[in-house]
Amino acid sequence: MGLLGALLKTSLFLVIFLGALFLLPGLPPNTTFPFKEYFIKPARELNGTLELNSHLNGARQLWKDKIFGPECLIVLDDKIYTGIHSGEVIRLNNEESVQPITKIGQPCDYIFDDELCGYPVGLALDTQGNNLIVSDAYYGIWQVDLETRKKTVLVPAEQILPGKGANRRAKLFNSLAVSRRGDIFWTDSFSDDFVLAAFANPSGRLFKYDRIKKTNEVLMDELSFANGLALSPSEDFIILAETTAMRLRKYYLKGLRAGQSEVFVEGLPGWPDNLTADEEGIWVPLSVASDRENPNLFAVLAPYPKLRSFLARLVALMRLPLRMLNHIYPNDMAARLFHSFNDMVIRNAPKRNTVVRVDWNGNVVKSLHGFDGSASGISHVLEFKGHLYLGSPFNHYIAKVKLPDDVAKSVKGD
Ligand SMILES: *[C@@H]1O[C@H](CO)[C@@H](O)[C@H](O)[C@H]1NC(C)=O
Ligand SMILES: *[C@@H]1O[C@H](CO)[C@@H](O)[C@H](O)[C@H]1NC(C)=O
Repeated sequence: MGLLGALLKTSLFLVIFLGALFLLPGLPPNTTFPFKEYFIKPARELNGTLELNSHLNGARQLWKDKIFGPECLIVLDDKIYTGIHSGEVIRLNNEESVQPITKIGQPCDYIFDDELCGYPVGLALDTQGNNLIVSDAYYGIWQVDLETRKKTVLVPAEQILPGKGANRRAKLFNSLAVSRRGDIFWTDSFSDDFVLAAFANPSGRLFKYDRIKKTNEVLMDELSFANGLALSPSEDFIILAETTAMRLRKYYLKGLRAGQSEVFVEGLPGWPDNLTADEEGIWVPLSVASDRENPNLFAVLAPYPKLRSFLARLVALMRLPLRMLNHIYPNDMAARLFHSFNDMVIRNAPKRNTVVRVDWNGNVVKSLHGFDGSASGISHVLEFKGHLYLGSPFNHYIAKVKLPDDVAKSVKGD
């Protein structure tokens, strides 16, 4: 057989193979929800309150190279607490010293092996005692007594949780908000395998953990990467970030519309991450920018379920050898590959870094932008002592910028 024949044969095989991959029903991977079309509103124009500025340029980088991936920041007794890769929750005492507080995950050598080390991505102070409530992406929701450091699991990782349509485990425990009564609202970002989740239909959930009954109620399902939460000042509704859909949703907790939800803000020019609420409104960091020049891949693919199922199958197949290798010879290679992949994505992300401020009526009232990378991949905004401290799962420091004057005024309430 000549070269041409071999080539033809190979191409024919490829066409049949790809065709089968594209068309055959019932092939793996099995996703939580069937592939169906959905739509994501594209990013708004960068005008009006979204007009570009350079407020985030020249951010100071604190605790540089002492901390890796400080995703979520809270303050207790004038000190910042954060969770980092390696699984630890730490207290930042001053710019030199970092003090471990607790760790939920397993001991580990390679700190970016999050599934083994654990990764505390949600932190909140308890309203029912001197506890820290920790959401560890892979180990569930825990209560840690700040005095005795005793750890108690509230929602174990392996627990089967209710869903609208399918009951299932949580895949990625994410944000937390604790109500005055002590109930914990929390998000599970998605239910499919991490890589496949990029192509599958949205499967994130919002839960309410009842502190007295110790039960989880599912409030919303089929969310696009359910992430940050913000309880309204009177706790009559809760705002939730749907990261990959570039929008915020509002879920009514009290009143005539209790149990209903609606879009709160959509078409954000990037991916909203953790939300930080105060009396006047919410800080919304956009961890990856999106606009006309940088379209959101999820929004592009959302209307094409066949294409998404094809890509999911392709990825699943490509990963098979890696899986097998990992099975025969367990090592942290998958974690290392995943980390380098993440690194690459973030290094190639659009240059613009943005934080927006939204009032309690869903209006974008202000935006801060930066282009020099000094504050990039922002996942959390903490207002502290006249400054904004910016956390990120990708950075090895916490960025610090001045609080804009007009916000400083309105936050004080004059
Ligand atoms: C921003 O631009 C869009 C599209 O050109 C326009 O529809 C909208 O009214 C503008 N908004 C503001 C606040 O200028
Ligand atoms: C987000 O920030 C709030 C307020 O600082 C905190 O209570 C919450 O747990 C955080 N969650 C995540 C995932 O960062």
